[in-house]
Amino acid sequence: MTVLALCNHKGGTGKTTSAIHLAAALGLSGYRVLVIDLDPQSFLTRTLGIAEPPETASSLALFQHEVALGDIDAVQLHGFDVIPASSVLTKQMRRLNKPTDVLWVKEVLENADSYDVVLLDTAAAITVYSLNALVAARYVIIPVTPEYQPIVGAEQTYKTASMVRTRLNPELDLPLFLFTQVDARKRAHHRYRQYLRKRYSDRVIKNVIRTSAALATSYSDGTTVFENNPYSRGARDYANATDELIRVLGIANQKPPQTASTDGVAPERSSIQPMQP
Ligand SMILES: Nc1ncnc2c1ncn2[C@@H]1O[C@H](COP(=O)(O)OP(=O)(O)O)[C@@H](O)[C@H]1O
Ligand SMILES: [Mg+2]
Repeated sequence: MTVLALCNHKGGTGKTTSAIHLAAALGLSGYRVLVIDLDPQSFLTRTLGIAEPPETASSLALFQHEVALGDIDAVQLHGFDVIPASSVLTKQMRRLNKPTDVLWVKEVLENADSYDVVLLDTAAAITVYSLNALVAARYVIIPVTPEYQPIVGAEQTYKTASMVRTRLNPELDLPLFLFTQVDARKRAHHRYRQYLRKRYSDRVIKNVIRTSAALATSYSDGTTVFENNPYSRGARDYANATDELIRVLGIANQKPPQTASTDGVAPERSSIQPMQP
């Protein structure tokens, strides 16, 4: 089971959008995928139209003694499952103040094998929940819009992940940056993309996610752009980025996909080349 955390200390950089669409694309490629919403503001849960869950069927349940992943009823969507966030996460945060409270999610996921990939969506703030994500993960993806504040947030997140790697989770790989909401017409976007590529070279995912109105649309019925607008830039960009991630992370070696249906979803994708800075 491969655990991936989506983090950026800056908000609005595409963490939640990436969690949903990487999950959907991996699901279409035949992987068994679970997304866990660890953001107390529950944007992922709400975007997918999932109602406020009982605490026992929410990500809060991961922070209980003797809980196994199979005890938590995940919501089944088109191609992936979700453990939604509960509004009670905020209230419980104050109680989770012991050093060992960063270990809850890791312990639950360590003993589970019902999924091939688990994606952890986090809030912009560094909280016990985002630390749990970094401690449980093998890989961190930092979605970043090529603009000043998201880049600063992304570099801070890189440092936080490196600190977690040194002190708490030696299994954690160095983070990977994923450019989101890229607008080729903006000169500043070119500059910030060049800056990050120069500085972090192969830690930057080559395929970028461009701005796409289809991605900004919330369908609220658990479906994604792959069902609703499969030929949109959003669908093609996330299909391409997911294919690259599967290769880069070596997930393909762990479990050959049963279907190759992202091909069916985005037939034009082979003609899409990553944009050059
Ligand atoms: N590639 C994109 N094109 C257009 N809008 C996007 C794209 N990615 C994200 N958005 C929109 O930007 C906003 C912030 O994205 P979100 O994924 O919620 O960020 P985060 O989880 O990092 O706070 C949302 O309204 C989302 O719909
Ligand atoms: Mg979010």
